[in-house]
Amino acid sequence: MTAEQIRVLISRDQIAARIAELGRLITADVHSDRRAAPQHTGQPRRLVMVPVLTGSIVFVADLIRNVPLKMTIRPVTISSYPGSATTTQGTNIQGGIPTDLAGADVVIVDDILDSGKTLGLLRRMIQAQNPATLRIAVLLRKDEASGRRQEQVNVDYVGFEIGDEFVIGYGLDYDGEYRNLPDIGVMG
Ligand code: IMP
Ligand code: MG
Repeated sequence: MTAEQIRVLISRDQIAARIAELGRLITADVHSDRRAAPQHTGQPRRLVMVPVLTGSIVFVADLIRNVPLKMTIRPVTISSYPGSATTTQGTNIQGGIPTDLAGADVVIVDDILDSGKTLGLLRRMIQAQNPATLRIAVLLRKDEASGRRQEQVNVDYVGFEIGDEFVIGYGLDYDGEYRNLPDIGVMG
């Protein structure tokens, strides 16, 4: 696979502009939650970002720098594409998920909503801890008309809607590679 066979679908400039908007939306929502209730169960509200590794590493790095609030970052490793497969083979959690999210304002950050299995599972696991709020940010959402969605997951922040294409770059991989491409591209 050579670079010539990769077509840019979303450029780095488009990505940067959209992430600045997502950062503003998240910041505004956190501010309005805090205006409504500065404390949650007697404690000052705290913001916790939960990036889903590995695909969201580039996205979350840019997103958090567009959210000028105190926060902590608690990554989780959970994947529905074990090994080299590009079709979902069941959702796989490697390592634990954070267990101290009770009362927190949690934002799960993932690269792409495809079948919905990863985010569906993670949302249930975090919701069970009773966070104050639980929101989801995804850089990309694949078209539901493709029939790939297996679980409906409400997402609060979406960078871009895309068709039923396999995308790479900006954190997204094909068989573990191409995550470092600065743009989002399609092969072929
Ligand atoms: P799902 O929504 O549970 O099917 O899983 C989404 C995960 O599968 C994402 O976090 C990606 O890691 C991976 N994935 C889904 N579609 C693509 C794609 O087009 N390119 C690269 N990875 C993808
Ligand atoms: Mg992933």
